[in-house]
Amino acid sequence: MALERTLSIIKPDAVAKNVIGEIYSRFEKAGLKIIAARMKQLSRAEAEGFYAVHRERPFFKALVDFMISGPVMIQALQGENAIAVHRDLMGATDPKKAAPGTIRADFADSIDANAVHGSDAPETAQVEIAYFFASSEITAR
Ligand code: PPS
Repeated sequence: MALERTLSIIKPDAVAKNVIGEIYSRFEKAGLKIIAARMKQLSRAEAEGFYAVHRERPFFKALVDFMISGPVMIQALQGENAIAVHRDLMGATDPKKAAPGTIRADFADSIDANAVHGSDAPETAQVEIAYFFASSEITAR
């Protein structure tokens, strides 16, 4: 098993629902350690940069508008197989398809407002963590 890091974002809808602690508890119970964290109101430029790979997709503007609609909670998580463990906790992108007991099944209302983001591969995790955290802000645990 590989010790991995992943970038997690609790999106504006879930922050507004006051479930940051509930989601953190799920991370911790699954063996994921929070090694950096910051609450932030993203600017349009920051959100567009983060989702630049999706710039040509029809939902790009809606996604950016949503991500800047309120504060987000951003964290780097570390653990064995952290990327897959975190994606399993999140559930499918579309909450209608998310397995019962997953974060999106429990807290997301729609594919537009789907509560959480997680990196999808080690290479993207590295880029996404560096997008929000300097190496000096990441703790060793
Ligand atoms: S892909 O093809 O696998 O890259 O796409 P996917 O991971 O499903 O989605 C990429 C991000 O776009 C969001 N998304 C949407 N936002 C708004 N409207 C629609 N219809 C929509 N479809 C996908 C999706 O939540 C992903 O955002 P993150 O933050 O990575 O979860």
